[in-house]
Order: sequence, then C-alpha cells, then structure tokens
Amino acid sequence: MEALRGGRCDMVRGRVGMSRGWSLLLTALWTLYGVAGAQPSVTAQYGEDVTLDCTFYHIPGVKLHRLNITWKMHRAEGVDLLVHSYYGQRDLWRGQHKAYWGRTQLDPEGIEKGNASLLLRAVRVQDEGSYLCYVTSELRTSSQSFSLAVLWEREMESPIVAQLGQDVTLSCPFECVLNLQPLNITWKKEEAEGPDLLVHSYYNGMDTLERQDVAYKDRTQLHPERFPQGNASLTLRRVRSQDEGFYICHVQPELGRFSVRMQVTVEGFVSDQPSPVWYYAVCLALLITIFIIVKKYRLLLLRKLRFWSQWKQQEGGEQPEVNTFLPPPAGSFPVRHKTFLFPSCLHMLGVPSSAT
Ligand SMILES: *[C@@H]1O[C@H](CO)[C@@H](O)[C@H](O)[C@H]1NC(C)=O
Ligand SMILES: *[C@@H]1O[C@H](CO)[C@@H](O)[C@H](O)[C@H]1NC(C)=O
Ligand SMILES: *[C@@H]1O[C@H](CO)[C@@H](O)[C@H](O)[C@H]1NC(C)=O
Ligand SMILES: *[C@@H]1O[C@H](CO)[C@@H](O)[C@H](O)[C@H]1NC(C)=O
Repeated sequence: MEALRGGRCDMVRGRVGMSRGWSLLLTALWTLYGVAGAQPSVTAQYGEDVTLDCTFYHIPGVKLHRLNITWKMHRAEGVDLLVHSYYGQRDLWRGQHKAYWGRTQLDPEGIEKGNASLLLRAVRVQDEGSYLCYVTSELRTSSQSFSLAVLWEREMESPIVAQLGQDVTLSCPFECVLNLQPLNITWKKEEAEGPDLLVHSYYNGMDTLERQDVAYKDRTQLHPERFPQGNASLTLRRVRSQDEGFYICHVQPELGRFSVRMQVTVEGFVSDQPSPVWYYAVCLALLITIFIIVKKYRLLLLRKLRFWSQWKQQEGGEQPEVNTFLPPPAGSFPVRHKTFLFPSCLHMLGVPSSAT
C-alpha cells in the first residue's frame, strides 16, 4: 500500500494490444516531447526484432582464433545479465540469462567482417536498458554501449462517445514491470493546426498542471490508485462540444514507454449547420405546399386581385395598368411568391434568384 501513495507502478497486470504503422508518428512525438532521461540510442517496438550494432577491429582474411564477443545488459542494481557470448568460432549458450534464451543471434558472416551486431527478437518491455558489447581478440579489445528504449503503442479502434455536459473516462492501459519509481503521464489532444493541447500531465508522482491548456482547467483527473493495475485513465468532466477529437496518452514507467491514441466524439449537441439533406427536404416540402395552395386557389386569388385593383382605382382615381386586370400567364404567379418568400430555398434547388 505504501507504494501506491506516490502513484507508483509495481505490478504487472493487463495486456496491451499493439498497432504497428503508427509507430513513426509516435516515435516523432516522443522525440519532440523530449522524454526525460538519457536519450536512447536505439528504440525498439514492443514485440518486434531489433539489431544492436557493434563493430570491431579486424584484418580481412585473418581468422581471429581468440575472438571473444560478449553482450551484456547492464543493471543499475545487481549484476549484469549475460545476453550473448561467442568464443572459439561458436556461440556459447552456457550462462546466458534466461530472459534472452532463444532470442539472440550473431551473424557468423558478419563476424568475419568485424561485425558483432546482435539481433534481439520479440522485444519485451523488460529488455529496456543499457547494453554493452565487449570484443577481445589477438588484435585489440573494444567495448561499446547502447541504451535500448522499448515503445508500446496502441490505437483504439472505436471512438469513445461522450455526452455533452457529462463526465467521461478515457482509458489508457500500460504495462508495469518491477517498478518502484513514480510514473510520468501525459495526456494530449491533437490539433489540426499548431501544437497539441496539453490536457493533463503527471510527473514524479504529482499532477503538474502549469502548462495545462485553459480549456481543460479544473476538468481533468487521474486516478493514481489505479496505476498499479496498469491503468492511467483520465476523467474529463463537463464535456463540451469542443472536446471532440483525438487524444493521446503517454505513460512512462521505469521501463518502456506506452502510448494510446483514441478518438472522442461528443453526443447531444445541436450543430450550427443543419444537415443538408434535412434542409433540402424542408425546402422541397414548403415549395410543393405553396404550389398546391396557389394552384387550388388561383381563381379566387385572381378575383380578389381584380377586385382590389378596381377598388384602388376608384380610391386613387388613377388609370390602372392594363395588365393588372388581365390574369397573369400561368406559372408566373407562384414563382413570384416563391422567390419572395424562400430565396435561399430556391437558390439551393438551383433556381436563379432573379426568376420571376
Ligand atoms: C570473454 O570476455 C568476457 C568479457 O570480457 C569474459 O567475461 C569471458 O570470460 C571471456 N570468455 C572467454 C572464453 O575468454
Ligand atoms: C552488421 O550486421 C547487421 C545485421 O547483421 C547490419 O544490420 C549492420 O548494418 C552491419 N553493420 C555494418 C557496419 O556492416
Ligand atoms: C481504469 O480506471 C478507470 C477509473 O477508475 C475505470 O473507469 C476503468 O474502468 C479502468 N479501466 C480498466 C481497464 O480497468
Ligand atoms: C519523470 O519526469 C521527471 C521530470 O522530467 C524525471 O526526472 C523522471 O526521471 C521521470 N520518471 C520516469 C519514470 O521516467
């Protein structure tokens, strides 16, 4: 329980699915974000193979009988792990740490050319760390070191549907491996233009919200009690329509870096733009109704118009225009009304607004 207090991660729980093809983007994001700690020289995707390059001095055509290639994984605490060893023209499996059993390979042809690169298959989160390549021979002794970082990425297939004004919890699973250090968690929202918005960040066991975007102020919450279960979910309160979009969570426990990308859609808000289909249907229905009414009461309307004109003439004593008395040509009457009442409808239906 003590370990939970600081939002630590000290259990292995929960499987995280992985999506490839998305790795480039995330690798770039991680690089841009400037993840804390030493810059790893090699980044591997979880579950994939990685080659750690190591070359040594040799003379072409000269066989090195005392060539000794030793790959080790350096542990900050405890002894280094033997990853792979080669001596006397062959691999020596004795003493290899069991975490690497069946997963390492040196290229015999490469060795003849001074290449002691190690192929490590099916990378695991536990493989993250420093690697050392020692080479000794009759000619020279050399050593090189690398740090290997392991990325685990996932894209959620279906969007998360949030209700306007309600709270929503966005899930972010990750894997915890023998960790006693506080976690670092960052939640971001992707922006079509400009940098991502910082939704929430958590460093060294604390919420760190100085750089949080104002749109998310006082609306976000992490659940540190869930971190040991590999759950870095975020609760977003009082969802707004602007919250729609893509969110990414980055989790950095002591080992591995996890990212989950997800889409959030907001339901329950009326959009500013009415749906075009709906708009067309209403326009069409209105026009048809008017057309029917006008057609049905045409004679009555004409009679009324004639009566009104005569009355006007008597009142004003002016000579009426001849065409006022004549019935207008069929079709022109309704169109005039339509134009007057629903210019935008007509425009949408492709009728020029000047039509009378
Ligand atoms: C090869 O080198 C490693 C590291 O220097 C050493 O521990 C090991 O004993 C050497 N192996 C042989 C057979 O000399
Ligand atoms: C050494 O071999 C590995 C594969 O076995 C290859 O990826 C790498 O480029 C080689 N390095 C050099 C310097 O030839
Ligand atoms: C993670 O924690 C949140 C909030 O406590 C919870 O709603 C969610 O179901 C949890 N997810 C998993 C996969 O356990
Ligand atoms: C979290 O971030 C802090 C500050 O950048 C850094 O000192 C710490 O090592 C990080 N922790 C992990 C587990 O990466």
